[in-house]
Amino acid sequence: MRQAPALLASEARMRLASWEEVKELVYASYEEQGIPHAPAPASSYLVLEKEGRIVGCQGWRKLSGFFTEFCHLYVLPSFRGQGIAKALVGEALSRAPTPVVLTTVLRHNKASLRTLLSQGFKPVGEVISPYTGREIVVLCATK
Ligand SMILES: CC(C)(COP(=O)(O)OP(=O)(O)OC[C@H]1O[C@@H](n2cnc3c(N)ncnc32)[C@H](O)[C@@H]1OP(=O)(O)O)[C@@H](O)C(=O)NCCC(=O)NCCS
Repeated sequence: MRQAPALLASEARMRLASWEEVKELVYASYEEQGIPHAPAPASSYLVLEKEGRIVGCQGWRKLSGFFTEFCHLYVLPSFRGQGIAKALVGEALSRAPTPVVLTTVLRHNKASLRTLLSQGFKPVGEVISPYTGREIVVLCATK
């Protein structure tokens, strides 16, 4: 759990990045998920780079002394299924600035749910999205 797969170590690197660097990926993610409003930039982004190209990101914003919200998890389609999302979530959790991390996922998004569950998130509730009317799972991790 929370361990970057060995295959990532030699050929990829993680680093913090700016909104300007990730916004194209985040907009692509919203479009793919059918989220109808523009994304609000997070305060921090962790990215995974391969050969100098950003192929995935995980954002977060600190909400209070206890809580951080994770948002904008995305991996480019041609790089999926290699453990990149799990590596990003695990590393972002270790860097999260508070002991409690919250996030939300569309209920039908099995890939994202599996990623988050594998890294220690637990479902704590379900809500209906005020934006789309779709079912959302709320998840929480502690560190
Ligand atoms: C969700 C997403 C980030 C996963 O990225 P990824 O790098 O392919 O994920 P990983 O390779 O790390 O795999 C993570 C887990 O999801 C599972 N998974 C991957 N694709 C899947 C799919 N299409 N259906 C079901 N499970 C899937 C993997 O098997 C793995 O689980 P396991 O270890 O229990 O087997 C990627 O599909 C994506 O960017 N989707 C569009 C944006 C999005 O939905 N973002 C999340 C918003 S909350």
